[in-house]
Amino acid sequence: MSPVIKIFDTTLRDGEQSPGASMNIEEKIKIAKQLEKLGVDIIEAGFAASSPGDFEAIDRISQIIAQSTVCSLSRAIEKDILSAANALKKAKFKRIHTFIATSPIHMEYKLKMKPDEVIKHAANAVAYAKSMVDDVQFSCEDACRSDIGFLKEILQAVMEAGATTLNLPDTVGYVLPHEMGKIISEIAEFVNNKAVLSVHCHNDLGLAVANSIYGVQNGARQVECTINGLGERAGNTALEEVVMILKTRKELFNGLDTKIKTQEIYPSSKLVADITGIRPQPNKAIVGQNAFAHESGIHQDGILKNPETYEIMKPQDVGIIQTGSLVMGKHSGRAAFREKIKALGFSVNEEELQNAFVRFKALCDSKKQVFDDDIRAILNEETTHIPQIFSLELTQVSASSSGKYCAALSIKRDGIEYSDCALGNGSVDSILKGIDRISGIKGNLKDYRVEALSSGKDALAKVVVKVEFEEGKPAIIGHGTHIDTMSATAKAYVAALNSYLSMKDLIRDKTGTMNL
Ligand code: KIV
Ligand code: ZN
Repeated sequence: MSPVIKIFDTTLRDGEQSPGASMNIEEKIKIAKQLEKLGVDIIEAGFAASSPGDFEAIDRISQIIAQSTVCSLSRAIEKDILSAANALKKAKFKRIHTFIATSPIHMEYKLKMKPDEVIKHAANAVAYAKSMVDDVQFSCEDACRSDIGFLKEILQAVMEAGATTLNLPDTVGYVLPHEMGKIISEIAEFVNNKAVLSVHCHNDLGLAVANSIYGVQNGARQVECTINGLGERAGNTALEEVVMILKTRKELFNGLDTKIKTQEIYPSSKLVADITGIRPQPNKAIVGQNAFAHESGIHQDGILKNPETYEIMKPQDVGIIQTGSLVMGKHSGRAAFREKIKALGFSVNEEELQNAFVRFKALCDSKKQVFDDDIRAILNEETTHIPQIFSLELTQVSASSSGKYCAALSIKRDGIEYSDCALGNGSVDSILKGIDRISGIKGNLKDYRVEALSSGKDALAKVVVKVEFEEGKPAIIGHGTHIDTMSATAKAYVAALNSYLSMKDLIRDKTGTMNL
């Protein structure tokens, strides 16, 4: 039995279904690179047949990632499998992940197929995938509500067709840990090490991590998960929790461990939260803002005497670094800035460093002290290369005596500056209307969030917007940071617009083939 638990990350596939908005391909590449740095074994980069955007993201990620296996999901349909194989062509290590539903309710109402037909489809799909790649994973969708005898039959057929990993998802987050343990142990005995058994749990009842752990204790050797537990509805198994459970309580797992570099957990969590605009709750295990904060006097006293009195993990082990010793302000030079970037875990090229340094200096003029999160925000913006079709030059908002707000904006396109103004019911409304007037593209604001990146009255504002530019297509995420909240709003909206224009023809329909 392998002592290694494989970590299969599906942030870019199952996780991407959650923000209610599409990530840009450049953002997906950034996340994939961080996942590789984190040491995940398999990166599920998307579902190639679902949209040209997913196909292109998998293709681009395949060309960049060299350590992890890159995987595409596909239904048990030839055209999906061919699309997955084509998207993965350039990957050093590649896997096709095909699936079909196996529960009575799914087979009868969704697939409208008899169990025998489902087995035939599954075996044919796996054999077809196997004719193109060696590494084939098969999933029984809604496995935990399926008949166990039927699961054995279909798994036998797909193993004979060449599947090397067998995944048993709790698609609707239904089972309790002891039930998951029972299913996995019975299937593990049946499979008898002829394939790797995998668990994939959803968190509808808050049990995704517990169920995954029970799966491991009963024979699963792959865990499917997402950063921050991102995912549709209540989300998927949180990668950081599973990994830290296995590490912290290793005496209970007979030497089983993952290859995850745990110090990369926090940077990965931050990156995914920044890109999706979905922050983990403050009390979220491992990566929440308060996960290592000790408020009570008794706890603080204990921690000072011996951290192990109240800490079962060290913050440094998950990559929470106190770089406070390196205080950044207007007197900090390029060398200190470079050191800070390194300490924050970013690797930048000279051009990115130069641009970030110029912005850092400008920030120092408007802010007494610049915090790590401020620098992180600058670096995230400077290292995400979305084509800047529109660039914002000026935002000014004033309140008029009529109770309306008036925004004056200047935006450049192809070197030409266009200026206009618009009236709105509030400053945000007036800004977005003004941008719509200049660009000629009307966006529909679906979500708007603003947060202060650090403490203090002069904190940098970060705005995340989700904007629908075309009816029936998912919204697009845009980010903007600025010392002034309204300027951050305008930047975020223009960023969403640029992101939309750069991948306009690649976005899937909301009602398209992502309907599994
Ligand atoms: O939850 C699920 O069943 C899935 C499968 C497609 C693996 O995500
Ligand atoms: Zn899922």
